[in-house]
Amino acid sequence: MLTPEKISDLVSDAVASIPYPAEPARLYQPIAYTLESGGKRLRPMLAVATCSALGGEVSKVIDAATGIEVYHNFTLLHDDVMDRADLRRGQLTVHKRWDDNTAILSGDAMLTLATMMIAKAPAEVMPEVLDLFNKTAMEIYEGQQMDMDFENRNDVTVKEYMEMIRLKTSVLLGCACRTGAIIAGASQQTAQAFYDYGVNLGLAFQLRDDWLDTYGDPLVFGKQIGGDIINGKKTWLLINAMTELRQELCDILAEDLDDEERVSQVRAVYDRLKLDERCHSLIADYARRAVSALDAVKLDDDARQYFTSLAVKSIDRTH
Ligand code: IPE
Ligand code: IPE
Ligand code: MG
Ligand code: MG
Ligand code: MG
Repeated sequence: MLTPEKISDLVSDAVASIPYPAEPARLYQPIAYTLESGGKRLRPMLAVATCSALGGEVSKVIDAATGIEVYHNFTLLHDDVMDRADLRRGQLTVHKRWDDNTAILSGDAMLTLATMMIAKAPAEVMPEVLDLFNKTAMEIYEGQQMDMDFENRNDVTVKEYMEMIRLKTSVLLGCACRTGAIIAGASQQTAQAFYDYGVNLGLAFQLRDDWLDTYGDPLVFGKQIGGDIINGKKTWLLINAMTELRQELCDILAEDLDDEERVSQVRAVYDRLKLDERCHSLIADYARRAVSALDAVKLDDDARQYFTSLAVKSIDRTH
């Protein structure tokens, strides 16, 4: 398998050389602004690493892997409008730096650009890769709708939350892994094992994202701390606090407080219930499930090490 450095370099180079025109500037500048603002590039790395781990030709997966990253970045442009978020990757979000219409239309262009890149997958597997991508994209919209619907409900269960984050976040990580497996010519069983790895990693990943939204260091996280609380997002932390201290929490949420005060009072409730640590151990649990999903797959030691280490790192990532 390629080394982790090589995988990372391949992905960075591919994202840096995505072809799109310069004009109209108002359409394309926000795309450059977004793609050049960094990001962990987790999804394309998963696609490339899976393909490489399964003995596939890595040059064949690059376009699809890059397309998945462009797609992910498109979801962020629209998500930031929906979540009224001002900061991402330490800089103003597109709808703040420009306006909502810009985020909508540049996002649309990124979605099409992503689909064009995914359609460049090798002809013999292209229909399967494109089907998987389109199915995944629909699931993400379903998850995003649930996320917004939940803002207006105070009776969301942990089970509903887990399904919502599976859809809005995890299936794209699963899709990235499965795309790498399909392009490597893997069996259905192997492709499914990698998909399950990606989905469980995605659950750990989104739980950690929600944890960071309350407990992260704003300078490192690059997003506003407390945004989920301010927006009434039903995170694992909030749902559990609701179950155990419903009245107290409803009072804090209904009270006329400024944002900072509300976030600090809700966080104090989480702290009293030790939700910080309980959430952390659930994240570790999903990271373990991700690694176990690959138990039955025959892999070289360095490949197993790569996927294990990604899962372990996701448990206490800081951004
Ligand atoms: C942010 O994803 C959206 C979530 C699914 C939590 P990432 O945390 O992968 O964002 P970047 O691309 O690294 O900025
Ligand atoms: C992200 O969930 C899911 C998608 C973008 C599809 P969040 O809304 O929690 O992601 P961040 O925190 O804004 O990155
Ligand atoms: Mg969101
Ligand atoms: Mg958001
Ligand atoms: Mg978040």
